[in-house]
Amino acid sequence: MSSQEAQNEAVLIDGMGRRIVNLRISVTDRCNFRCTYCMPADNVEFMDRVELLSFEEIVRVANVVAKLGINRLRLTGGEPTMRKGLPVLVKMLSEVEGIQDIAMTTNAFFLKEHAQALKDAGLKRLNVSLDALDPDKFRDVNRRDCLDQVLEGLKAAADAGFKSIKINAVAVRNFSETEILKLIEMGRSDGFEIRFIEFMPLDSDQIWERDKVLFGHEIIDLIKEKYELIPITDSLEIGPASEYNFADGKGKIGVITAVSNPFCDHCNRIRMTADGKLRTCLFSTQEYDLKTLIRSKATDQDIVDVILDAVAKKEPGHKINLDDFERPVRAMHAIGG
Ligand code: 5AD
Ligand code: SF4
Repeated sequence: MSSQEAQNEAVLIDGMGRRIVNLRISVTDRCNFRCTYCMPADNVEFMDRVELLSFEEIVRVANVVAKLGINRLRLTGGEPTMRKGLPVLVKMLSEVEGIQDIAMTTNAFFLKEHAQALKDAGLKRLNVSLDALDPDKFRDVNRRDCLDQVLEGLKAAADAGFKSIKINAVAVRNFSETEILKLIEMGRSDGFEIRFIEFMPLDSDQIWERDKVLFGHEIIDLIKEKYELIPITDSLEIGPASEYNFADGKGKIGVITAVSNPFCDHCNRIRMTADGKLRTCLFSTQEYDLKTLIRSKATDQDIVDVILDAVAKKEPGHKINLDDFERPVRAMHAIGG
């Protein structure tokens, strides 16, 4: 049997027939921001450093999943750039056979220092979290007064040669409305795709309520007051965002309707937390302990068996809209965005 056939034999297909090709790897639960929709203002208990998977351990998992057909990785946090030596990890992951794409979600604060090294190490794509362009609003939502540093980080990323940088803005009612047009105007002039993500119940402070979600269709209506939008229907791949081109040809935007119209039916991802727990959904209430396996004498096949079992049981979808919805115990910063 050729190695290609062997690889095809072991693809990850879950109980709903969804093919899993994307692993999101959280490299730390630490963050230098305290976004209100994610972390508490203070007294955060972070993982003990010995609990974090080492680069070698992460790469071992990447090798195992790549043989199961995973070809895309995304590094997340907390804030991934808080992890020392991150470009070294990117380089190691870029050498894993079968991995075609490595992306990262970041708050951009440290990109001024690290964008070039990350690009050179093989990082292909960047998503930057940026919710507000008004400095006071930025400070209110991110609990840090550093809009300028983030904008400089974005510029550094573009200068380092990152193409198609996406900006994630969490959409919160009575907050985001004033920022939407400012963000898309920046996106149109500087070449970033802005994506608005409906606020999900993953915040440590547990302030989430349905009434605090600014829905995707409301955002689209608001933008349409000023710009004509054309839905993109011919994407090669169905992603979590519903995307639109501006009719004048200048740029595109997306809305991720995680609450009002979830993307679960097409979900192709699994996640690993910084302490090596496999999660098959952002909202999973169950985790699979890869770290203990890795730190015992487990073989790669033992790890494969746990991953196959987990994927087979991947949740059909999240239950935010159902009566029996249960919040995951971990907050967003400890799961990885
Ligand atoms: N709801 C929606 N998006 C969130 N993020 C973090 N917390 C939430 C939430 N409660 C997003 C941030 C960031 C990514 C890591 O996850 O925008 O871009
Ligand atoms: Fe940090 Fe990202 Fe959470 Fe904001 S959303 S506190 S930047 S991990």
